[in-house]
Amino acid sequence: MFTKRHIISMRDFSRAEIDHILQRAEALEPFASKKKSDLLAGKILAMLFYEPSTRTRLSFETAMRRLGGEAISMVSTEASSAAKGEMLADTIRVVGEYADVIVLRHPKEGSARMAAEISKVPIINAGDGAGHHPTQTLLDLYTIKRESHLRNLNIVLIGDLKYGRTIHSLAYALSLYDAKISLVSPEQLQMPSEIKDDLKKRGIDVYETTKLEDVVADADVLYVTRIQKERFPDPSEYQKVAGSYRISTESLKNCKDDMIIMHPLPRVDEIDVDVDSTKHAKYFKQAFYGIPVRMAVLSLVLGCDV
Ligand code: CP
Repeated sequence: MFTKRHIISMRDFSRAEIDHILQRAEALEPFASKKKSDLLAGKILAMLFYEPSTRTRLSFETAMRRLGGEAISMVSTEASSAAKGEMLADTIRVVGEYADVIVLRHPKEGSARMAAEISKVPIINAGDGAGHHPTQTLLDLYTIKRESHLRNLNIVLIGDLKYGRTIHSLAYALSLYDAKISLVSPEQLQMPSEIKDDLKKRGIDVYETTKLEDVVADADVLYVTRIQKERFPDPSEYQKVAGSYRISTESLKNCKDDMIIMHPLPRVDEIDVDVDSTKHAKYFKQAFYGIPVRMAVLSLVLGCDV
């Protein structure tokens, strides 16, 4: 079902397939920190990152190494032949001769799909501009499953809902689980109407507001995002919305006792550091869950059974 498959967008997956990946992640979680495995021994992962990353790149590398495989990296365009003008298609063809699977992050929307069309090894999209970042969505779902619940979920998505690629994929994936979704953002950063229309067509209850206090009391999950400064065509537009919301212990005073806060990270100033020590903060655990989820994805596309 997954062997040699490209992982490009959450829209390529059914709910049953997502559940299968999450179950495999649960089975592999003991290997994410302690137990040793040689499940991926002899396999090589190549990581091509044309944009900065900390979590995605390092958690893929950790996942590969913990399962006995190896990882090779291109971590900046300046240090590779991209600086000499090499086109992405040629790089993909060449790296496919060196590795069994490629993880690609690229600023151009659609680049991962294009790479998949010509690659002889599976491509895993680690972010294509404002497009998709499917393994982030999978680890978000896994975090919700492990730390809260996916059934009858009431989730608040807050922040940059226009440019945040993780939030679009997550909203789509949550529609497969019939979640109730509240959207909180400044008016300039509202979720694109085609995504909201799609959610409504799927029968999802979507509520939109500019004020967190309208929705925080009923939330099971508060999913916070960074304002994506690098995606604004006009820097002065960014200045108008920079710092327009910030989660503090004060803003959580009416929340449910078991409400969890998630954030794909990196954080800039959207969550006060005081919140980190509350029982609600799960964003660092969320970053850890990237390891078992990426272990699951790598082992599936490489056809290595647990
Ligand atoms: N969440 C995420 O994709 O983080 P990085 O940009 O550090 O990889």
